Amino acid sequence: MRIFVIFAVILVVLHNAESVSKLQERFRWKELDFVFPNAQLKQRALASGDYVPRNGLPVGIEHYGNKLFVSVPRWKDGIPATLTYIDLDKTPSGSPALIPYPDWATNAPEDCPNGLNTVYRIKADICGRLWVLDTGTLGIGNTTRNPCPYALNVFDLSTNRRIRRYVLRPEDTNANTFIANIAIDIGATCEDTYAYMSDELGYGLIVYSWEKNKSWRFDHSYFFPDPLRGDFNIGGLNFQWGEEGIFGLALSPFNTDGFRTLYFSPLASHREFAVSTKVLRDETRVEDSYHDFTFLEERSPLGHTTSRVMSEDGIMLFNLIDQNAVGCWHSSLPYTPRYHDVIDRDDEALIFPADVKIDFNNDVWVISDRMPNFLISELNYKDTNFRIFQAPLHRLISGTICEVHIPMHGRLNNLALAGPRMLPHHKTPLVAQSYNPHTSHVPKAYYFNNHNGVNLDVQSPVEYHQYHSTPAGHYGYQTKYSPVGQLWTRRYW
Ligand SMILES: *[C@@H]1O[C@H](CO)[C@@H](O)[C@H](O)[C@H]1NC(C)=O
Ligand SMILES: *[C@@H]1O[C@H](CO)[C@@H](O)[C@H](O)[C@H]1NC(C)=O
Repeated sequence: MRIFVIFAVILVVLHNAESVSKLQERFRWKELDFVFPNAQLKQRALASGDYVPRNGLPVGIEHYGNKLFVSVPRWKDGIPATLTYIDLDKTPSGSPALIPYPDWATNAPEDCPNGLNTVYRIKADICGRLWVLDTGTLGIGNTTRNPCPYALNVFDLSTNRRIRRYVLRPEDTNANTFIANIAIDIGATCEDTYAYMSDELGYGLIVYSWEKNKSWRFDHSYFFPDPLRGDFNIGGLNFQWGEEGIFGLALSPFNTDGFRTLYFSPLASHREFAVSTKVLRDETRVEDSYHDFTFLEERSPLGHTTSRVMSEDGIMLFNLIDQNAVGCWHSSLPYTPRYHDVIDRDDEALIFPADVKIDFNNDVWVISDRMPNFLISELNYKDTNFRIFQAPLHRLISGTICEVHIPMHGRLNNLALAGPRMLPHHKTPLVAQSYNPHTSHVPKAYYFNNHNGVNLDVQSPVEYHQYHSTPAGHYGYQTKYSPVGQLWTRRYW
């Protein structure tokens, strides 16, 4: 008995030590540095004020291959590049200087046709494209200048060349427009891709069709802030962000009708909203879709969030900016505080977790940057201010309410196991033959819950994801089956 008690105590101690942080810190900075072409040019930029190390604040991240992208808005002077990356092969950790992406010329401000002015969130897609919205602005608040229009830039990640620049139509924006978030919705093919952009201060949702090279704008009262939710306490500061409307966006996997659900929430709000991409993709619905937008429950108090993402098996992660934490929700469960959980929290290292991403390996990436302190007071540059974390999604949700084990589809889905040769042309999901320890992500079937009135079909198609790491390289596949057979298979890379 006594031995058991001692053992139990040790277990409790170990458990507490481990529970401090499931996210692993990969990078940390006191202030940002950039990789200049040579030391002389760097000195010159420092002398001229083209580079002011303390003026840079990283806000967005994205992982693709050996690159970790980091965006730095030009809110103050002296930001040499707004779209940058870290070479994960050369600098897997530490405080690396940021490399302009794809090059210096593309990062030139006020060069509207060729350059980028200010970039916030960025998104890489499984077709190997990087989606970058340039706001065309320099400065913030009442110091903002607008040398260029809003323009969507798409880069080919294999050639690192820009393959498209689309200028938003004047009707897509208004005098208050501020767009900082983007979500990418790929349909049956890479051509069939839509971008959704949230206009936080102009209260709109702009849709861009890659195939049609065309955009349109939805307006809805669900994009407005909640007047009761404009008070914030973060990083020891109290401030009011009362006008902030629709902000973070997350797309679900496919629903049975072949469309996804776009989840969104205004920043000054605790409430979640949703709409089908079937509506958004149809430009004729712009004037006629009020009742197609749905509202879900409110999150619990301290439920402000600016960034969210949903995994391919329906797990949503969202930053909880008032709690120095990242939250989760499994979309097979009702959207109520009871079914929300925190995957990690840290009152020092996670002050303002500005962006949350899930990559194609199902690894989660989080950046924290103390943004309110930077904007409203001042950062302490003797202290670590910016951090980037990484951890496998399954480890982060383990032990939380978001870890849903029940096979939610009729068939037990253990396809991880069939190996790459399961690829196309199987009419029914395969049965596991053997366990493959090199598969990094064990897929789950999903269906969407019928509690929120958002999606309702148990007979929904199933997606399988495989990622294999072999000495010869990486392979990732995504396959979709419906009850009538396989719909498609796609390679991640
Ligand atoms: C801009 O706003 C800041 C505070 O947000 C204020 O101190 C400053 O006077 C304003 N400047 C102008 C030109 O309005
Ligand atoms: C897309 O539209 C823009 C107009 O903003 C035009 O400049 C561009 O050439 C078009 N691109 C394609 C591929 O059609």
